[in-house]
Amino acid sequence: MRIAVYPGSFDPVTNGHVDIIKRAAKMVDHLVIGVLHNSSKTPLFSAEERVNMLSEVCQGIPNVEIRHFEGLLVDFVMECNATIVVRGLRAVTDFEYELQWAQSNRIVCPQMDTMFLVTNVQYSYLSSSVVREYASHRGDISPFVPPLVAERLKEKYN
Ligand code: PNS
Repeated sequence: MRIAVYPGSFDPVTNGHVDIIKRAAKMVDHLVIGVLHNSSKTPLFSAEERVNMLSEVCQGIPNVEIRHFEGLLVDFVMECNATIVVRGLRAVTDFEYELQWAQSNRIVCPQMDTMFLVTNVQYSYLSSSVVREYASHRGDISPFVPPLVAERLKEKYN
């Protein structure tokens, strides 16, 4: 059984994330979306809210499971019995950071491989921080996120 973890902050999940989730889910038997709960940071949405949004967005993708995790990614990957980590690459600027972590994770956990999926061009500019910035200024975020996420963002900033 091929199990993969797609980790991230997902604060909030964007259309770019959803695209990666759908593509990765087709490549593996089971995909665990790992929502990072970092107790030293204050995200816009709590881990529970992010997990709930992802669960709603991923309804209809049968082999996807949403969980949150704290601590090291390698520990979570092993807890999930996964051997693959999925990450999206938007641009060269992502690459250096991602390569560094992929390589160091492999030293700690040699059975784990990082699989990079190149973001579709229409999402290459998109990030959760851009979405939060637009939303905080009451900008139109409908092109960037699923409708239910747009609703939750409006509620946050109202
Ligand atoms: O969506 P993000 O914020 O780019 O995701 C970053 C994430 C969650 C993949 C990364 O911060 C992470 O794995 N953090 C857990 C701590 C850890 O293991 N760090 C080293 C590996 S990246």
